[in-house]
Amino acid sequence: MTRHLITSAIPYINGIKHLGNLVGSQLPADLYARYLRARGHEVLFLCATDEHGTPAELAAAKAGQPVAEYCAEMHDVQAKIASGFGLSFDHFGRSSSAQNQRLTQHFAGALADQGLIEEVVEEQVYSNADGRFLPDRYIEGTCPNCGFDSARGDQCDNCTKQLDPVELINPRSTISGSTDLEMRKTKHLFLRQSLMKDRLDAWINEKTDWPVLTTSIARKWLHDGDGLRDRGITRDLDWGVPVKRGTEDWPGMEGKVFYVWFDAPIEYIACAQEWVDAGKGTDWERWWRTDKGADDVRYTQFMGKDNVPFHTLSFPATIMGSAEPWKLVDYIKSFNFLTYDGGQFSTSRGRGVFMDQALEILPADYWRWWLLSHAPETSDAEFTWENFQSSTNKDLADVLGNFISRITKFCRSKFGEMVPEAGQYGPAEEALIADLTARVARYQDHMDTMEVRKSAQELRAIWAAGNEYLQAEAPWSTFKTDPDKAAAQVRLALNLIPLYAVLSAPFIPTASASMLAAMRVQDPGWPDDVRAALAGLAPGHAFDVPEVLFAKISDEERDAWSERFAGIRD
Ligand code: MF3
Ligand code: ZN
Repeated sequence: MTRHLITSAIPYINGIKHLGNLVGSQLPADLYARYLRARGHEVLFLCATDEHGTPAELAAAKAGQPVAEYCAEMHDVQAKIASGFGLSFDHFGRSSSAQNQRLTQHFAGALADQGLIEEVVEEQVYSNADGRFLPDRYIEGTCPNCGFDSARGDQCDNCTKQLDPVELINPRSTISGSTDLEMRKTKHLFLRQSLMKDRLDAWINEKTDWPVLTTSIARKWLHDGDGLRDRGITRDLDWGVPVKRGTEDWPGMEGKVFYVWFDAPIEYIACAQEWVDAGKGTDWERWWRTDKGADDVRYTQFMGKDNVPFHTLSFPATIMGSAEPWKLVDYIKSFNFLTYDGGQFSTSRGRGVFMDQALEILPADYWRWWLLSHAPETSDAEFTWENFQSSTNKDLADVLGNFISRITKFCRSKFGEMVPEAGQYGPAEEALIADLTARVARYQDHMDTMEVRKSAQELRAIWAAGNEYLQAEAPWSTFKTDPDKAAAQVRLALNLIPLYAVLSAPFIPTASASMLAAMRVQDPGWPDDVRAALAGLAPGHAFDVPEVLFAKISDEERDAWSERFAGIRD
C-alpha cells in the first residue's frame, strides 16, 4: 500500500466559498482521499485557511473587526461548513499559525543562503490620503489588458491576467477611493525564479501523465514573454509573516511581511506540523522530508486553474531552491471553472450558491453528487437549477434511491425483513455479477486516475445495472409462479445495497452510511472480489427498510431557489 499525501488549495479566509470554489479543489480532493482510504492506503489529507494578504485585511476592515479576530472566527466558520460537506481533512490548519510563520522564515533564509533572493529598491504606489503603500488589492483601476474597470492591483478578475499595481490605468485606493497617489521608493525581496527556469522546465517535462490543463498553463508561464520573471515576495503590510532570514532579523526589511502567495503553499507543510502538534499525528517529517521516509509518499494536489502557476512554478521554485530534501508534488489535478446560470459566481455580488446556503437547503450528498458528476475537468461547466433538479431526481432518486426502496419493500412484503434463503442463481444473476465485476474494475481505474466525471458515470451505470436487473427479472412476477427463484433474485438484489454503499461512499458518504445502517452491516471493506462481496449478506440476515434516501426536487423549489440566488446576497 502506498502512502498518499493529498492537499487541496487552501481557501482564502475572506468569506464563505461558493460551489465553484468547492468543486475546483476541496471536494475532488476529498473524493480521492476517501477512495484511497477505502482501498486501504494510508492517507494524510490536509487543508487550511489562507489568512494573510490584502483579502484578509480588507474583509476584516469591512466587518469592522481586528484582522486576527476576524481570521479566527472565519476559520471556525469555514471549518464547520467543511465538515457539513463531509470534507474529511485529517487537519484543517491556518496559514497564520506559528508553525507556518517559522517555516516561511526558514525557507526565506534557505533561499537567501542559496543566492536566490535579491533585495530590490523599487517604486510602489503610495496613497497620500491613506498614508500607506497600496499593494495588491488595496488598489483598483482599469485593466491594461482587457479594459475591465475594476481590475485589482495583483490580478484582473475579468481576464485573469496577473498585474502589477503600477500597470493599472486610472488607479484609485480601495480604502478611501482616493486618486491622490504617487510613486515612492521601498525595498523588497525578490525570489529569483528566473534562475531556476531550466530546472523547472525539465521537471514539468517529466510530467507526461499530468492533465493537459496543468502542464499547458505551466508551459505558458515558463515560455511566454514575461513568464518566469522574478517575483516580489514581500509587501508593505501589517498583517502577515514578518520578514526574517530564518530566525535572524533582515536589515532594511523591518515592518514588512512576506507576500501571501509566498507563505500560503508553505502552509501545506506547516499544516502537517500543526496536525502533529494538535496530537492527531506523530510524525510529519515522514510525509514531507525525503530524507525521513517521504520518498515513499505519493503527493497529489488539487486546485482550480487560476492556482496552477503558483503550484507548478513558484512553490516548486521555493522547494527546489531551498536545496533541502523537501517532498515535491507528484501529481497536480487542476480544474476549469464552474459558472452559474449563464454568468460567473460572484462573491462580491452574492451571485450563485455559497457553501453555507447550499447546506441550508439540501443535505451535502445532493451537492456532492451534482458537483462531482459535473466537475469542470475538460472545460468550464455550468450550474443551472434545471440541470441540478433533473440530475438529482434521475440519478439519486429514480435510480439509486428507487432501487433500494423497491427491493427492500418487496422483500418485506413477501419474505419479511430478512434475506431469503431459497433458490439458486441462474444465467441472469451470473450475467449481472460479470457485468458488475467489469464495471467495478473500470470505476477503480477512473478513480485511480482521478477522472472524476468518468468515475461518476461508471458509478451511475453500476446503480442502473441493479435497476435494469430488477426490471428484467421482475421478482414480483416470478414470485407468482416460482417463489424460490424470486427469493434468489431478491437475495442478490439486497446484496447489491452494501456493495453500492461502499462504492458510492467517496461521492455520497452520508447516504452510504444510511444504506449500510439499514442493511445492518459494518463497513464491509472494498469489493476486491465482486462475487464474494455479493455474498456478504447471508440468508437469514435481518435488515430494515430505510427511510427515503433522496427526495425529489420539485419545480416549485427549483424556481424559488433560482430566484433566491440570482444576485445580492442577504
Ligand atoms: N487562497 C488561494 C485561492 O483561494 C489558494 C492558495 S493555495 C496555496 O485561490 F498554494 F497557496 F496554498
Ligand atoms: Zn483584464
